[in-house]
Amino acid sequence: MTDTVTAETAAEPVDLLAKFDPIIQTREALLAAGVEDPFNLVMEQVLSPTRAICNGRDTILLGTYNYMGMTFDPDVIAAGKTAMEDFGAGTTGSRVLNGTFRDHRDVEAALREFYAMDHAVVFSTGYQANLGIISTLAGKGDYIILDIDSHASIYDGCAMGRAEVVPFKHNDVEALEKRLKRIPEGAGKLVVLEGVYSMMGDVAPLKEMVRIAKAHGAMVLVDEAHSMGFIGEHGRGVAEDQGVIDDVDFIIGTFSKSVGTVGGFCVSNHPKFEVLRLVCRPYVFTAALPPSVMASSATSIRKLMHGGNKRAHLWENSRTLHKGLRDLGFKLGTETPQSAIIAVIMPDLEKGAMMWEALLKEGLYVNLARPPATPAGMTLLRCSLCAEHSAEQVQTILGMFERAGKAIGII
Ligand SMILES: Cc1ncc(COP(=O)(O)O)c(C=O)c1O
Repeated sequence: MTDTVTAETAAEPVDLLAKFDPIIQTREALLAAGVEDPFNLVMEQVLSPTRAICNGRDTILLGTYNYMGMTFDPDVIAAGKTAMEDFGAGTTGSRVLNGTFRDHRDVEAALREFYAMDHAVVFSTGYQANLGIISTLAGKGDYIILDIDSHASIYDGCAMGRAEVVPFKHNDVEALEKRLKRIPEGAGKLVVLEGVYSMMGDVAPLKEMVRIAKAHGAMVLVDEAHSMGFIGEHGRGVAEDQGVIDDVDFIIGTFSKSVGTVGGFCVSNHPKFEVLRLVCRPYVFTAALPPSVMASSATSIRKLMHGGNKRAHLWENSRTLHKGLRDLGFKLGTETPQSAIIAVIMPDLEKGAMMWEALLKEGLYVNLARPPATPAGMTLLRCSLCAEHSAEQVQTILGMFERAGKAIGII
């Protein structure tokens, strides 16, 4: 007898993917019903910030984060092309080794100008910015008090840092205060909030929340991913709009929305902020973004500083679509338009998928969102407007919603 394990004697492996069987079954049932796969859309050709050929059809895009329509801005494209020709396609290294090029420095300068803040650090994505900053600021023994509807990247940052996580009811000022009161005296505390919550498109009561956090000796981090470029006098976000930006310790943002490229960042006035470049693992242990992306981003950020007209048109689009959908009888995520996101609440996943497909056949793309991404187990059709949508396009979109909603029996 030997104790060598042979192919014949090896134990049956435990299938580590078996836990996902319910998801596989739900998806298969949906596709078996003949619905186009909502999570496998292909853009064969992009015609403009608001139109693309999707699954072979000319489609209006109402489900991208291209709020300010910067993806096709000629200056943004030209800056990227020149940087790629001059500096090559990629960095092949971390920011702390060989991955800091002229344009990484320049985009951080553009962010400091945009936010009028002392420090800016760029990450490879917004996800990594939250992962890195939150996990580095709040570690074992510290407390993170966060809105229960926070983005996955915020929760993942909390898990990575192993701080004590204390969630409170969505946008509930009293609940935040109650949680803060229960935290031991002298403990490190980070309150994490978002400007705009991306599923329902609602805005946080930052004015009250930041005041309460400060009164309890907490530092405050606000993720302004969905408000940068659009909300606030200078497009700095909800904290600017509600007059509390000077009391916020850290602002997190992304280039993948209004800026129209890819990347993430944190800006701050904290005098010790630069040390994070040495100790933040998702900054140190990953390759820096390509110089072309940095040059395009810097150009886009500086143009957004003068985007007042675009901001005004985007608000007009948001108001028109919100009112139009309400008048048609759809149930919406917010009573009033609060951002560029309008969530249309579906009765269930099946109806939501049917409605999503009916809209796609009409020539309209929106996001089908469902748990765990959505709060309270809801299925949503999430519409995100762009400053480049024309007033006529918004009317066309309303016509599409009316026909599809009647055909599926939602209105
Ligand atoms: C609130 C919030 N934070 C962070 C991110 C991550 O941004 P990125 O796409 O740059 O990873 C998102 C993306 O959807 C988001 O909604």
